[in-house]
Amino acid sequence: MKFFLDTANIDEIREGAALGVLDGVTTNPSLMAKEDGDDYPAVLKEICDIVGGPVSAEVVADESGEMIRQGRAFARLSEHIVVKIPMTPEGMKAVKALSADDIKTNVTLCFSANQGLIAAKAGATYISPFIGRLDDAGMDGMQVVADLVDIYERYAFRTQVLAASIRHPMHVVEAARLGADVSTMPYKIFQQLFKHPLTDIGIELFNRDWAKVMERRKANVRR
Ligand code: E4P
Repeated sequence: MKFFLDTANIDEIREGAALGVLDGVTTNPSLMAKEDGDDYPAVLKEICDIVGGPVSAEVVADESGEMIRQGRAFARLSEHIVVKIPMTPEGMKAVKALSADDIKTNVTLCFSANQGLIAAKAGATYISPFIGRLDDAGMDGMQVVADLVDIYERYAFRTQVLAASIRHPMHVVEAARLGADVSTMPYKIFQQLFKHPLTDIGIELFNRDWAKVMERRKANVRR
């Protein structure tokens, strides 16, 4: 499974990339609004240079012509750009056109298996089922991931399932068990994946015992 960070924060992306197991980044207008800057293309370019892997850049338009124009402009920024397009009929027209140009796409705001099936037929590179938002609405977000993994395999679609709107580390585990290709997550959750209280306790114990060995060694040298 690939790990993407779901953020437009450059510091988080730098720290995440330094850990050596980060594959890409997803951004959206809300994530961009949380940051200070207003130059989205410049931020995207910087993220692409740091990550050197897929970076989703979201279009903001209702009509396919404008989505295609914005998507092509994003794609010119870097070979790593993936154009993020909302799951609407106009959006699917744009996915079809951009795919024909060999521009990678990520269909966002997917809340059902039928939407994911349409995105795959339109030629999307990635589909982003929003697990957390479905769970928040009292539905089973992970079921959409399970359905899409199953459907794509059955029909040999090449669209990758990108589990999005992840709220906690167990979402990542469940998505991985189901065979999702990617999980995109906030930096806090990415950090949590590395942690276990027993690892911390174990390190403390090893350090304490190693200090005893060093003390003994010092004593033996003095003798
Ligand atoms: C996906 O690419 C989206 O940016 C993101 O995962 C949405 O998550 P949210 O529901 O936490 O806003």
